[in-house]
Amino acid sequence: MTRTSRIVSAILVLVLVALTALAIALSHNSGPAPAQALPGDAVRMKAIVYRQYGSPDVLKVEEVAKPTPAHNELLIKVHAASVNPLEWHFMRGTPYVMRLQVGMGRPKFTRLGVDFSGTVEAIGKDVKLFKVGDAIFGAADGALAEYVTSTEVGLSLKPTNMTFQQSASVPIAGITALQGLRAGQVRPGQKILINGASGGVGTFAVQIAKSLGADVTGVCSTGNVEMVRSIGADRVIDYTKEDYTKGTQRYDLIFDTVGNHSLSEHLHVLNPHGIFVIVGGQSGDPWIGPLARFFNGYLISPFVSQKFVSFLADANKTDDLNTLRDLMQAGKLTPVIDRQYSLSEVPTAMRYLEKGHARGKVVISLE
Ligand SMILES: NC(=O)c1ccc[n+]([C@@H]2O[C@H](COP(=O)([O-])OP(=O)(O)OC[C@H]3O[C@@H](n4cnc5c(N)ncnc54)[C@H](OP(=O)(O)O)[C@@H]3O)[C@@H](O)[C@H]2O)c1
Repeated sequence: MTRTSRIVSAILVLVLVALTALAIALSHNSGPAPAQALPGDAVRMKAIVYRQYGSPDVLKVEEVAKPTPAHNELLIKVHAASVNPLEWHFMRGTPYVMRLQVGMGRPKFTRLGVDFSGTVEAIGKDVKLFKVGDAIFGAADGALAEYVTSTEVGLSLKPTNMTFQQSASVPIAGITALQGLRAGQVRPGQKILINGASGGVGTFAVQIAKSLGADVTGVCSTGNVEMVRSIGADRVIDYTKEDYTKGTQRYDLIFDTVGNHSLSEHLHVLNPHGIFVIVGGQSGDPWIGPLARFFNGYLISPFVSQKFVSFLADANKTDDLNTLRDLMQAGKLTPVIDRQYSLSEVPTAMRYLEKGHARGKVVISLE
């Protein structure tokens, strides 16, 4: 990226923030999205609905119309779902810039959830890859519900050796780990550090990196050291006792889901041609949130020999989900499940996840 294009990017961000501020101010009094009246003969189901942005208190279990699949869609009975930081970004409408897309004063799409696993109940006439009765898992909008519809994209057959709960925990976090490690050009024998190794993304990243032959160091708190070791990490750094950015070990790849150290603090623990993958990390800025770190990555890269990669996962990559399924089926990847909640407990699940110390994945079980 040239200096000019970096300046142009910075100006674009400022314009975007200003436009968002203006649009939010103009839509300030829009109030919660109104509930839609259901026809008396509509077949109903329970779903998590949110009609305004805010804390987990805005999440309600409501009766909504059971969806009907279009010609190219499947209707899936959801047995389990899982929650990710993505859901609390949608729930809170932060960073504010995302409201340009998802609704200014209140959410345009009032349903929540993406990750799920369930059974195909009906298919449209153009569906080719799945049949009624198949146990599947994948990503679909509004997955925190008894039923969801989806095209075939972003779905895969559930591994036979995994439960619905385990499979539902995979899509976003597993795909983020897989695609993020690829963005870091992981190769066998490389020394990799995974910051946030005990979280949803981190527990997948440790196992996938090991399956690709890397030498893995995981960073987590004291209570998670044994767990991170048990899923394959060669070394574990307890961040309450040791700061990895002050160590002497250098890494070929740092995969960072936490963002608690500045990018420049990593320069001397990253090999001269090492790659740093920026996966997560809150800037504390409600306007641009994690995007701030992404832009810092663009700004620093031209001036150093290492590469700082700003990475965004694409959950609609069916091939990647199939790769994760194959790894699970081969026994090389086993989701780590922390807590399970029911659909009516989704607000409690979100409160727990928002604390930022989930131990693996938080699952919603509908069985
Ligand atoms: N770029 C993308 O496309 C993408 C996709 C998915 C997620 N993300 C982002 O990635 C981040 C992680 O997602 P997630 O699903 O893994 O979240 P998560 O499940 O909530 O992970 C939280 C983990 O962070 C760890 N942690 C907290 N403070 C730490 C510290 N100082 N040092 C090391 N680890 C620490 C916690 O470990 P302890 O309990 O041991 O402290 C916990 O295991 C989020 O910011 C999310 O928004 C980005």
